[in-house]
Amino acid sequence: MSYEKPPTVLSLIRAQSPLCAVLFTNQKKMDMQRVQDLAFGGLKELPEQFIRPAHERPENSKAMEGVSVPVISLSQPHDVLVKQVALACQEWGFFLVTDHGLSPSLIQRLQEVGQEFFRLPQEEKEAYANDAATGKFEGYGTKMTKNSDEKVEWLDYFFHFMSPPSKVNYGIWPKNHPAYREVTEEYNKEMVRITDELLELQSEGLGLEGNVLKSSLRDEEMEVEMKINMYPPCPQPQLALGVEPHTDMSALTLLVPNDVPGLQVSKDGNWIAVDYFPNALFVHVGDQIEVLSNGKYKSVLHRSLVNKERTRMSWAVFIAPPLEATIGPLPQLVNDENPPKYSTKTYAEYRYRKFNKLPQ
Ligand code: OGA
Ligand code: NI
Repeated sequence: MSYEKPPTVLSLIRAQSPLCAVLFTNQKKMDMQRVQDLAFGGLKELPEQFIRPAHERPENSKAMEGVSVPVISLSQPHDVLVKQVALACQEWGFFLVTDHGLSPSLIQRLQEVGQEFFRLPQEEKEAYANDAATGKFEGYGTKMTKNSDEKVEWLDYFFHFMSPPSKVNYGIWPKNHPAYREVTEEYNKEMVRITDELLELQSEGLGLEGNVLKSSLRDEEMEVEMKINMYPPCPQPQLALGVEPHTDMSALTLLVPNDVPGLQVSKDGNWIAVDYFPNALFVHVGDQIEVLSNGKYKSVLHRSLVNKERTRMSWAVFIAPPLEATIGPLPQLVNDENPPKYSTKTYAEYRYRKFNKLPQ
């Protein structure tokens, strides 16, 4: 799969004249600089805002060799699964799932319709631009720097809700591919099915009834969001990051990448590279499950690297409570010996604090 495309007139002008680039970039919002456009505009050196501080650079924080993440086959007996999932959630906050019943052809179709969006001419993609400043989080986006010493990620993305139906805004879904909606709706159903199974296993692993975590996420009101991450080839990948180290604020994240590796998870202070594993689902425990479990399950710190020659893509599905849900350590897990380690608050409040880097 190739993302080479003929340069646009604008990108040719930019490549030739840095001054023009500045003028064009500041001219109007429509012309926000996208990483994909920058990458395919003949860039030889990484612009300054993408160069990470020395300690964060992949060249200075290499992954540990010889360790691999847990892989769990869902075809095993239920009691074995409860133990394996609980152990992986406690020790890693991350695991791969196989034999999940999600068909390889559905994953392939999901990837095709998403790849096709990013192949659209830049002007067409801009029609979907998000605008976080006005609360429009859905759509096509690129993180921008707020100030000159803040670094940005080598990434463009597309974000939208998939569920519950009341939150879905089909108007913002990519319309370039006639099958985008059908494929994505089918994928959403599968994500909900697999999430239900994982939440049940996780609940039982905490010694609770199988339905406890799902009901804490408000059952059918639970939100399912799609984020398509697009990491174009990067001229100096050893100096950049695709996504910087973070934990996901959601309850769970279910991700499928394309075949270009790049994800790393942190375990006991070391980065561990996650190899490509065809058709496996990459499961991340997010902050809300860590809080509900009162810290028994870990929200995994992770980051992604970029590649010099190839475009990396990933489809991250975030499972989250609705904004008005109140999330705190489950009362069943708290007593005099195990006091609550986290405060209880609405997911809206949690999200506000996370976005603004305030203490929780
Ligand atoms: C994310 C994320 C990692 C990846 O989107 O939150 O961590 O592998 N992505 O793309
Ligand atoms: Ni993440």
